Amino acid sequence: MVHTHSLQKIVILGTGGTIAGRSALRSDNIGYVAAQVGVEALLADIPDLAAHLMGYELVFEQVAQVDSKDMNETVWARLVQRTAHALAQPDVQSVVITHGTDTIEETAFFLQSVLPPGKPVVLTCAMRPASALSPDGPQNLLDALSVAMDAKASGVVVVCAGVVHAAEQVQKIHPYRLDAFSSGEAGPLGWVEEARVRWISSPAARTRPLWDGSALPAPSTWPQVEIVMNHAGSTGVVVRALVQAGVRGLVAAGTGNGTLSQSLTEALQQAMANGVQVVRSTRCPLGQVIPAPEFTIAVAQGLSPVKARVALQLALMGLPPAS
Ligand code: SIN
Repeated sequence: MVHTHSLQKIVILGTGGTIAGRSALRSDNIGYVAAQVGVEALLADIPDLAAHLMGYELVFEQVAQVDSKDMNETVWARLVQRTAHALAQPDVQSVVITHGTDTIEETAFFLQSVLPPGKPVVLTCAMRPASALSPDGPQNLLDALSVAMDAKASGVVVVCAGVVHAAEQVQKIHPYRLDAFSSGEAGPLGWVEEARVRWISSPAARTRPLWDGSALPAPSTWPQVEIVMNHAGSTGVVVRALVQAGVRGLVAAGTGNGTLSQSLTEALQQAMANGVQVVRSTRCPLGQVIPAPEFTIAVAQGLSPVKARVALQLALMGLPPAS
């Protein structure tokens, strides 16, 4: 069936990751090098792709070629600029981004915070390299395209192993399994089943501040925000070293309800007195920190430590809110 649609293109942006990885042995699913295969070649490998596209045309761009554990501000700045440019084209329906699994949740949350809402931006990935005996990348790409073509899709989502996750909720929870992601207590937005998306919740809900991404400054000037963790035996040593190094913000990944050892609390309060902004999140993978009057440090409002870091970095940039 040929879909009738006025917007005809889907832009595919490649950034690297295991989905573009290669290993010397096809049976080796961990000893590979990520970010080796171009994004166009990844799709060229998929049989019957044209039938899946229902008349949409694909446009490719290799924005970066990195292992996502090395994801950085320079790539993010370029990615948001290229994504925003694509979304602004009247003949573009949506954008699909291929990405490594390790930091895909951070990139998704970053993009959601700075891109105009509306047209879908679908990030996808793989846990096995493209050279594997049984790679998961091709099916994930097809599933991402199904979401990118779906009339109900909007905003930034992550698609992996047939599951559609909201940018705000998604977390990598497994180092090896193909179904490596969870949306925690919120649950997924839906599933992709034989090219059909079964939504169970609206992808449009947004509760966070939305910044004008076109006003992002040069990446070298983005404020440095680091994460410190509370753990048995934690002290203020790391906090004092980071303040000395000039950090502008700190996210404290607290224990339980965002609690912090006495010495970490003292060091963070001293950091705040020196002008460093501090936010408390929790090491716990589920739930969120419940504010209590005895804690003077602000809470991250349900964000995991890595996403709270992104939110604080953006807040410190002084960007204008999106109009
Ligand atoms: C990466 O994040 O780039 C490497 C790991 C992966 O994609 O699974």
